[in-house]
Amino acid sequence: MTKIAIVTGSVRPGRQSLTIAEWVKAQAAEHAAAEFEVVDIADFNLPVWAEATPPSWGAPQTAEGQAWSAKMSEFDGYIFIVSEYNHSITGALKNALDYLGSEVNNKAAAFVSYGSAGGARAVEHLRGILSEMQVAHVRASVQFSLFHDFENFATFTPGPAATEALAPALDQLITWTKAMEAVREGAFSPVGAEA
Ligand SMILES: Cc1cc2nc3c(=O)[nH]c(=O)nc-3n(C[C@H](O)[C@H](O)[C@H](O)COP(=O)(O)O)c2cc1C
Repeated sequence: MTKIAIVTGSVRPGRQSLTIAEWVKAQAAEHAAAEFEVVDIADFNLPVWAEATPPSWGAPQTAEGQAWSAKMSEFDGYIFIVSEYNHSITGALKNALDYLGSEVNNKAAAFVSYGSAGGARAVEHLRGILSEMQVAHVRASVQFSLFHDFENFATFTPGPAATEALAPALDQLITWTKAMEAVREGAFSPVGAEA
């Protein structure tokens, strides 16, 4: 069965990220084509990345980094819960991504974001980062407004439109996740190259 991680994007006390991740998981449970699991970056207590060598040279040296690497390797695709901090993704999510390489290469991703402008600016930054990491990111996404989808900017109140917006993002993610599984299996090796 295809496995999709729903990855939180922030770690602060009182964050919305985990609440929204759990909402996505509840919605996605209706989707029979994959298994979904919330992966909370806060659980891994990742140090600010200070490894001697880049991820492409080998596994992280810290126990926290190794646990994070092993967990992210388990999945075929990812839904990133994207909080917008200073018009970008959080430092915590960027730090967590910097630990990774082969764990996510040739996999697929979708986004659920939030902020005063729906988190759209942060998602655009994340798309650039994931392109460098060879993650195929789908077009359809869900954006929550801090003004309209939260009471007093604090209580998450998604309406039916949110569920409707999530459906095409999930469909595109499953399609591209399956396509990237074939890529990883070598179905599309360059012409003339060894399989
Ligand atoms: C350091 C910081 C910077 C922020 N910068 C922005 C921003 O640039 N644009 C925006 O729409 N919201 C911004 N916000 C508001 C957050 O998007 C909002 O608080 C959101 O709930 C944060 O996600 P979290 O609850 O999962 O931590 C910022 C919040 C923090 C803490």
